Amino acid sequence: MFAALALLALPLLAKADFIEGCTRTAVVKAGDTCDELSTRHGVSTFQFALVNDETVDTNCHNLQINQTVCLGVSGQDCTKIYTVVEDDTCDWIQQQYGIANETLYANNPQINADCTNIYIGEVLCVDTKAFTYPAYNATLFEAVAGSYVPYCDDDEDY
Ligand SMILES: *[C@@H]1O[C@H](CO)[C@@H](O)[C@H](O)[C@H]1NC(C)=O
Ligand SMILES: *[C@@H]1O[C@H](CO)[C@@H](O)[C@H](O)[C@H]1NC(C)=O
Ligand SMILES: *[C@@H]1O[C@H](CO)[C@@H](O)[C@H](O)[C@H]1NC(C)=O
Repeated sequence: MFAALALLALPLLAKADFIEGCTRTAVVKAGDTCDELSTRHGVSTFQFALVNDETVDTNCHNLQINQTVCLGVSGQDCTKIYTVVEDDTCDWIQQQYGIANETLYANNPQINADCTNIYIGEVLCVDTKAFTYPAYNATLFEAVAGSYVPYCDDDEDY
């Protein structure tokens, strides 16, 4: 078991170092989900999925203990974050942080037009400045971040 973990972890560790322009990293702890890690280290769900799209798999199920993940790359690193709790709405979040609607959507492009798909534990970028993230690719995002929803996470095995 240990040997298998170590073998799996090595390529991942190596890859994290290769993420171009990565300015901050974190080390995965036992039991981490992508969203928990994101809340703890101050990175949005979207940004985390974006910068780790090469290494983190569908539903974030391949995190390895002690794996180093990238949190942000130079120039595209939102560090002002907010973790969604029960009954939150986009309106409330925007008012609370004084963010324009366009900015909230630019920084968190996975939010749908009616803001009905935000979920408890999702980490949003709440900066008032819009970051110039690469064009949003829903397919890609959904592969790594689409269902971080806590109640879907019933088969974690790490
Ligand atoms: C993770 O790293 C710590 C500190 O280096 C070490 O004690 C621990 O055995 C490692 N765990 C795994 C599963 O590699
Ligand atoms: C906020 O912006 C998004 C994305 O452009 C748009 O779909 C949505 O309708 C806007 N919501 C409000 C309340 O203006
Ligand atoms: C979006 O991401 C998917 C999965 O990586 C990829 O197959 C597809 O070509 C991408 N689409 C665009 C428009 O970049």
